[in-house]
Amino acid sequence: MSARLEVRQADLTKLEVDAIVNAANSALLGGGGVDGAIHRAAGPELLEECRTLRGCATGEAKITRGYRLPARHVIHTVGPIWRGGAQREPELLAACYRNSLALAGEHRLRSLAFPCISTGVYRFPPPLAAEIAVATVRAEVAQLPELELVVFCCFLPTDYELYQRLLTTDAA
Ligand code: AR6
Repeated sequence: MSARLEVRQADLTKLEVDAIVNAANSALLGGGGVDGAIHRAAGPELLEECRTLRGCATGEAKITRGYRLPARHVIHTVGPIWRGGAQREPELLAACYRNSLALAGEHRLRSLAFPCISTGVYRFPPPLAAEIAVATVRAEVAQLPELELVVFCCFLPTDYELYQRLLTTDAA
């Protein structure tokens, strides 16, 4: 059976899941938004491990330990910066979800939580981002038999509503 998909309005750094996904930048050396919150909550050891990774390309993902977080791992992915939509932004955002799930599969993780990647500092339109997130996760989870739960962790009530609506709509 495929993983359960859930939406929660919560602080990602508080979730007790096998891995949380970080909406990072290509340097993987911390930043603002959810990235800053994750590094603050995980402690300095996370930055030390990130330094060994030598960055990450847009759309790709890399995994580290979670250190002081309740989550055991952090999957760092780099979302596209929104530049109007004709620079492969939708495709690159889908790749973030796909590559994060692939890492979760390789590491046999059972639960994973995503933030709304690219919709903050990187300005990706939230409704389109939510559609891509839900469609990509729905398409991929069938191939990941060990994954039991995927949480879409929304900070903003407006994002929570978008995901609620998409998750209560039958997959087309
Ligand atoms: N828990 C869950 N979601 C959060 C949290 C949190 N603690 N904090 C913020 N969000 P952003 P991006 C939401 O800007 O657009 C950083 O500087 C936020 O409301 O964190 O991918 C990186 O280093 C929004 O919905 O990520 C990069 O340079 C979502 O997380 C750049 O920002 C993503 O917003 C990445 O930009």
